[in-house]
Amino acid sequence: MTSTRIPTLMAVLLICVLFASVWAPAAVAQRDDVVIVVSEESVARPWLLPRPVSDEDYYDNGAPDPLQVELGKLLFYDKLLSGNKNISCATCHHGLTDTGDGLSLPVGEGGKGLGVTRSPGEVATGGIHERVPRNAPPVFNLGAKEFERMFHDGRAEVDPTQPSGFRSPAGDLLPTDPPLDNILAVQAMFPVTSPDEMAGQSTESDIGAAATAGDVVEVWRLLAERLRDEQNNYVNLFVDAFDDIYTAADIEFVHAANAIAAFEAFAWRADNSPFDRFLRGDKTVLSLRARRGMRLFYGAAGCSECHAGAFQTDHDFHCMAMPQIGPGKGDGPSGHEDFGRERVTGEEADRFCFRTPTLRNVALTGPWGHTGAYNTLEAAVAHMLEPIDSLVTYDQSQAALPSRDDLDAVDFMVMNDPDLVTDIGVACEGEAVELRPRQFDNLIEFIHALTDPASLDLRDDVPGSVPSGLPVAD
Ligand code: HEC
Ligand code: HEC
Repeated sequence: MTSTRIPTLMAVLLICVLFASVWAPAAVAQRDDVVIVVSEESVARPWLLPRPVSDEDYYDNGAPDPLQVELGKLLFYDKLLSGNKNISCATCHHGLTDTGDGLSLPVGEGGKGLGVTRSPGEVATGGIHERVPRNAPPVFNLGAKEFERMFHDGRAEVDPTQPSGFRSPAGDLLPTDPPLDNILAVQAMFPVTSPDEMAGQSTESDIGAAATAGDVVEVWRLLAERLRDEQNNYVNLFVDAFDDIYTAADIEFVHAANAIAAFEAFAWRADNSPFDRFLRGDKTVLSLRARRGMRLFYGAAGCSECHAGAFQTDHDFHCMAMPQIGPGKGDGPSGHEDFGRERVTGEEADRFCFRTPTLRNVALTGPWGHTGAYNTLEAAVAHMLEPIDSLVTYDQSQAALPSRDDLDAVDFMVMNDPDLVTDIGVACEGEAVELRPRQFDNLIEFIHALTDPASLDLRDDVPGSVPSGLPVAD
């Protein structure tokens, strides 16, 4: 939580008190008493634009080893890394779906198909058991060194006090030899250990058995064995890409994670948007409307208080009253809540707080929010402007969730319970800002100017085939 917004927090406290005492959807209009109305041209606060992004912001100055990049791309799209060989990293972070999956919540291990057409299957025939509880975030620009925290709750992060240099759910089990190159590589160690994302269930494979028993080290060992197996055609690629690999026996899963990180950092760097070019000196590249929107973003609309810095994120955690849909993380009396940052810190003050996402390419990467509750950029931005109104008037038809009766049955348990919605609203720290329709359009225009045109077509990042011979498409 930020400590620089004392007046704001006081206003929010007032909102929350009002809200807590009179909760009922109709009563929320009372909050209008403290809505901040932004005047047409005035900018209430001084505003500063970030410095332009450059090569130095990225690992290896933006030029990771090309052989590792190529190997990482194959691994990223290869279902060999999943217990049942039926899902790859790309299933949820695909080049054809803007490094996400186009869904509010992913359909994990056992599903079939890609993007919004992905089907959950039936449990009896190996389909998914429940939805993955959080939205699959985009992977743009995560090779920039300032991204030191991964996941919506930041549960993996750079921490020089740890033997590995990183704090993560694996604690001391995180390998140190060979070392993990960066936090992006640390992140890549985890999806393979999750039964619902990639590992599968206990009876289905040795990897599924190790994963359901919580034995992450064994999952990594079994996957390294697969990569060492000549039949999967990876050995030469690892030998060529890594100086410390001479024979198959030298391959560890850490090498795979480092290669995947090199690929993600290289392929999905996105810092040539009109906004970037504007910051680098091309003053003609932004439309008048986008410049007005930029002024709102960095001024009176207050966005940059959290969406700060070169990548529009302070990398900190805030409670923004995002609707909670899907199975949740097992928190709270309903078992369908997600306490967010509190799950990592144990601090009740962090309940319902989530990491501020970068807004680079955000116009491409819907659905939005940590559960993908909003299916349009306009609705997501409207939420940021008036979080509590938006929470209590949430339109459930916006959720992009492939249907199956048992899955549908839990999707809106939290949102249908006024007490639980109130809890999320009371924790909210975002203050309401009212824009005129034209100002809102200008703000949206500016957010579109954060899109790098090179990210509009990512087909080159999708390999036609992978070494294991497993199908790349479903
Ligand atoms: C079943 C879908 C699924 C699969 C498969 C999957 N991911 Fe993810 N990924 C997610 C979800 C959901 C999150 C967010 C989880 C959270 O915050 O708790 C995530 C988070 C991430 C992040 C962090 C982004 C950020 O901004 O913090 C990266 C990077 C990433 N995944 C890369 C990978 C890689 C590499 C693989 C393969 C080894 C992979 N993912 C496999 C769904 C998936
Ligand atoms: C107090 C901090 C804060 C302020 C102020 C703020 N945001 Fe956010 N924003 C966040 C956080 C935190 C999230 C993620 C919330 C979640 O998913 O639970 C977010 C999410 C978003 C998203 C969805 C991104 C995605 O990838 O899902 C958009 C778009 C966005 N904000 C735009 C804005 C705009 C535009 C403004 C100004 C009108 C703004 N935000 C003001 C903290 C803030």
